[in-house]
Amino acid sequence: MRMSVIGCGYLGAVHAASMSELGHDVVGIDVDEQKVAALASGEAPFFEPGLGELLQRALASGRLRFSTDLADAHGNDVHFVAVGTPQKNGENAADLRYVDAAVEGLIPWLRPGDLVVGKSTVPVGTARRLAERIAKSGSGASLAWNPEFLREGFAIEDTLRPDRLVYGLAVDGGQAKAALDEVYAAALGAGTPLVVTDYETAELVKVAANAFLATKISFINAMAEVCEAAGADVTQLADAIGHDARIGRRFLNAGLGFGGGCLPKDIRAFMARAGELGADQALTFLREVDRINMRRRERAVDLAREMLGGSILGRRIAVLGLAFKPNSDDVRDSPALNVSAQLALQGAAVLCHDPKAIPNARKRFPELSYVDSIQEAVRDADAVMVLTEWDEYRDLDPHELGATVSQPIVIDGRNCLDATAWRDAGWRYRALGRPRDVRSMALV
Ligand code: UDX
Repeated sequence: MRMSVIGCGYLGAVHAASMSELGHDVVGIDVDEQKVAALASGEAPFFEPGLGELLQRALASGRLRFSTDLADAHGNDVHFVAVGTPQKNGENAADLRYVDAAVEGLIPWLRPGDLVVGKSTVPVGTARRLAERIAKSGSGASLAWNPEFLREGFAIEDTLRPDRLVYGLAVDGGQAKAALDEVYAAALGAGTPLVVTDYETAELVKVAANAFLATKISFINAMAEVCEAAGADVTQLADAIGHDARIGRRFLNAGLGFGGGCLPKDIRAFMARAGELGADQALTFLREVDRINMRRRERAVDLAREMLGGSILGRRIAVLGLAFKPNSDDVRDSPALNVSAQLALQGAAVLCHDPKAIPNARKRFPELSYVDSIQEAVRDADAVMVLTEWDEYRDLDPHELGATVSQPIVIDGRNCLDATAWRDAGWRYRALGRPRDVRSMALV
């Protein structure tokens, strides 16, 4: 099929390249000239495993190109809208200006029978409004809503082999369904479950899924708070309850909590939209989910203070990890970056390391100190904090590292280190939601 993908961020760039991999003829369109130039030369403008190779393959096949001009959408059959819906400044609601601009910009180029497919995460009601706008434009095009569930770090796999497909269609959406079936023929052929529904349900599926995941993480982090108070171990608790198939172990990792470009802003926008619809009571629990999540960041700073004898002022702290999760260079609402900034603002000398996220972190917090090697970060440190669970931190040799620090204190903000190995190597090891061991209790 001939298709356009409007918006070439984490979602759109991966979608465009993946669709071309599936044999479709794709043009990716974005207003950001630099991003378009990078993509057109086969360079991923952000870190996503496998994206560079995928782009190069797709560009070489001649089935993928990039442009800054919406006129290049003309003549395609399907137009995906994959632009961002960030949180509005000073408000919880989502900012729809990019979605609206993409649809407005597209309208002059639409032909009768074209299908506009929304992929961005939007407040419920947006699709119906946009469908009316497209109908009024007289273009003869129609709209479907087809939410995306991709995870950064696994974005290509999630796009090529999604665990489900959701089509939100108008009542007369038969033609739209046929077009989407053709787009996703490979996944459907492989037996991917398909839910065909109305616009509102499709929009809500996406935010409900993210709200559920956020709630699951905050649930285990609430248990972590209780474990800390009771001297219990949240990692063992998660293993034990996770064996119940109804609960499941995934997304039960306690630690610094969730961040990134989706979960935090999506639960806030969901609450805001429910309020507008008069259903705010239904989602007040998400406020608590958000609070529990944000409290973990403060707790990490408090734990550092506690471990350092009551004050972090002037103390040298090595921060390992800045990205909101491993295998990503994304620092949007990153708990790790938030903690690093809080430590620095409270007077600690913070040296930050991350395998991929330093350039993005530096843009947000230029005043923090960034170093390129783990060794540089930890040299003479009074405490080491692991805030993103990159494999290279999990694999650190605590004996080797212990020889370079000023004092062997480690705070495991992601419950990703082997506590016994670190303790055996002489470190005072503490983690969120786990008991202080006898040795460290004697030392604190
Ligand atoms: C999320 C959804 O998973 C995805 O379906 C949606 O399309 C976009 O939002 P993503 O933002 O890439 O994807 O990250 P995800 O893997 O969901 O992790 C979100 C945050 O939760 C990260 O900060 C991660 O560290 C944290 N997390 C995840 C935990 O703290 N504990 C867990 O057990 C799992």
